[in-house]
Amino acid sequence: MRDDAFIHANNAKQLWHPMAHPGDLQSNAPVVIASAEGSTITDSAGHTTVDAVGGLWCANLGYSNEAVKAAVAEQMQVLPYYSAFGGTTNAPAIEAAHAVTDFFAADGMVRAFFTSGGSDSVETALRLARQYHRLRGAPTRTKFLSLKKGYHGTHFGGASVNGNNRFRTAYEPLLPGCFHIPAPYPYRNPFNETDPARLAQLIAQSMEDEIAFQGASTIAAFIMEPILGAGGVLPPHESFMPLMREICDRHGILLIADEVITGFGRTGDWSGSRHWGVKPDMMTTAKGITSAYFPVGACLIGEKVAETFESDQSGEAAIYHGYTYSAHPVGAAAVTACLAETVRLDLKTNAKARGAQLYAGAKALKAEFGVVGDIRGGHGLMTALELVSDRSSKTPMDAAGMNRVHKATYNAGTMTRIGGNNIMMSPPLIITEDEVHHVLSSLRTGLASL
Ligand SMILES: Cc1ncc(COP(=O)(O)O)c(C=O)c1O
Repeated sequence: MRDDAFIHANNAKQLWHPMAHPGDLQSNAPVVIASAEGSTITDSAGHTTVDAVGGLWCANLGYSNEAVKAAVAEQMQVLPYYSAFGGTTNAPAIEAAHAVTDFFAADGMVRAFFTSGGSDSVETALRLARQYHRLRGAPTRTKFLSLKKGYHGTHFGGASVNGNNRFRTAYEPLLPGCFHIPAPYPYRNPFNETDPARLAQLIAQSMEDEIAFQGASTIAAFIMEPILGAGGVLPPHESFMPLMREICDRHGILLIADEVITGFGRTGDWSGSRHWGVKPDMMTTAKGITSAYFPVGACLIGEKVAETFESDQSGEAAIYHGYTYSAHPVGAAAVTACLAETVRLDLKTNAKARGAQLYAGAKALKAEFGVVGDIRGGHGLMTALELVSDRSSKTPMDAAGMNRVHKATYNAGTMTRIGGNNIMMSPPLIITEDEVHHVLSSLRTGLASL
């Protein structure tokens, strides 16, 4: 490895970073994260902070899980890679598929299609949804419905169902046939409805209206995050996902739950769908599937979809889609070890307790600081503070203000994530009570800097 001087001289010079302006980063170099332990990270200047971002909503086990590290290291020695395209497979992938379908059996998932991450998993689910309808003799069902404010990754398919124009505009035109309905976001919505239950009803009506307008026989699937993450942590009312399930069923539309963030315990339950008592037709996962120790995702397939593909006699059910790293043996070893650790450490129970603590503390900060317009959370370890420069007009806090809070919070010992005018937190699911206290105290310092 080159020395520190080389690293700093070349920081952001040759490397273009995701979700950033390459020119800005050349003058405002990103923080170099040098090491990590437990729920903390240390930068190259030696400053250690609690990682309230969990890497990127993904390091559920924190950074020191020896079981996952050992599984990856051992598999690397035995078989670092082999293709799973028609004709060959590998033992770790067979074991991982067994483990992950077992993990999500209560959600009705029976098959796994491995990918390299969340965007890949979404792409897989959208494709399988179209093919499913073709196999059932309904080839006109090609359109997709989704929620505004939703985030479904960055492939053209996923970006097309995304509900935030920040990830869309520069890359348009996107996939035709994708339509969006309002988000379950009581603080801001086109109905000016602040009651979450009534808002759920109004969105259900919008969904019905859109289906009637498009024609149900043209719609393949509806995709939603059980709790919207990157859009600013938007937990819908408990009636919302069951309502969407009922509407989809009535119109023959597949329900895809994008569980890339909400899967594996983050919501206080093993999946976001289970949190709301809903069984989707497919689930897209990544992140917590390996706690981010190796890039893996999985599209999980429910009974109805699996049966349609597996029993097909038309010759059209081969899946001509997949990735070089689908069912990667090292990734698969990481999946099996990570799931075992996730269950052994009962991450969902800690996520629920520490999530309640973080949410209560964030609400106290709202009472203390006028710039906090809205607090969202209360369903596991996903919490957001939405900052405004004026509470009555709800004017979003500008970028300079957000950056100031972020920096002051970091200097006070906590890494947070800024998305628009939201401070978002999704720490490792192993975070301790003391560490959550520390996060809240750093946030207080951050907010006081405004
Ligand atoms: C709900 C959801 N879906 C899909 C993705 C895309 O995952 P990836 O960045 O691994 O491609 C993300 C990423 O944050 C996500 O939050």
